[in-house]
Amino acid sequence: MTDITEQATAAASGAAATEKFRAKQRAEATDVDTKRVDTLVTELLTAAHDIIRRHKVTYAEYDALKSWLMQVGEDGEWPLFLDVWLEHVVEEVANENREGSKGTIEGPYYVPDSPRLPAEATLPMRDNEAGTPLLFQGQARSVDGTPLAGATVEMWHADDDGFYSQFAPNLPTWNLRGTVVADDKGNFKIHTVQPAPYQIPTDGSCGKLIAAAGWHAWRPAHLHLKVSAPGHQLITTQLYFQGGAHVADDIASAVKPELILDPVPVTDGAGREVTYDFVLDKA
Ligand code: DHB
Ligand code: FE
Repeated sequence: MTDITEQATAAASGAAATEKFRAKQRAEATDVDTKRVDTLVTELLTAAHDIIRRHKVTYAEYDALKSWLMQVGEDGEWPLFLDVWLEHVVEEVANENREGSKGTIEGPYYVPDSPRLPAEATLPMRDNEAGTPLLFQGQARSVDGTPLAGATVEMWHADDDGFYSQFAPNLPTWNLRGTVVADDKGNFKIHTVQPAPYQIPTDGSCGKLIAAAGWHAWRPAHLHLKVSAPGHQLITTQLYFQGGAHVADDIASAVKPELILDPVPVTDGAGREVTYDFVLDKA
């Protein structure tokens, strides 16, 4: 571990996640039909009322909830909370009719417009970047098998300490983030390092909830990806590592069997390599 560890705080990464979300907010999020708001909020409140009656929730528990909800806002941890405990079902519903590759949650740490890189590229990283070197290669194709020339493969992931650039201090702006442009056959080769498992910050309100409920705070090590090509639906996904810690008990419930990689040692040189193709649905 580097000394970055001591300085990363829930409030700092929460504030950055809140600010980044506001900057990229999906336009439709501000424009939801009145009838739909009525239905959804009424059903949500009715479910909460049922829970209070069923479990005879006390004033002490109600006050604990109130103060915790206020603290989530103060810590800027709403993006983290929602992406860990709700987004996986939104993703499931959004993509239920796709035939191509599986997606999963985006999470709070995506930043658009990462540096554009050629079809074979190394993600921006520090000279002494820690971690096992990883070669991630594959092809982007349409559901009908057509190679997608010039598809873009955006990748972002945590470093060997589990930290994301732009959300933890002292990391170069685009560390371990890049937009790789596939060649005329849709092929790409991305050199990076294997990320470490990610721990939800333990010093903020989400960490307090996890401790209070006796849960663990871990996500398995993962690569985040967005793959897109003209005329096709963008895939937002993550890939995990066979046998890695917490693949079977991800706190964000975002692992799917199709998303587990099993890299093998490279034949010449250090590190591991894996091939994974992306199949995109037509738009
Ligand atoms: C969170 C962090 C992640 O890296 C991720 O992929 C999903 C969620 C979070 O802290 O909320
Ligand atoms: Fe992540």
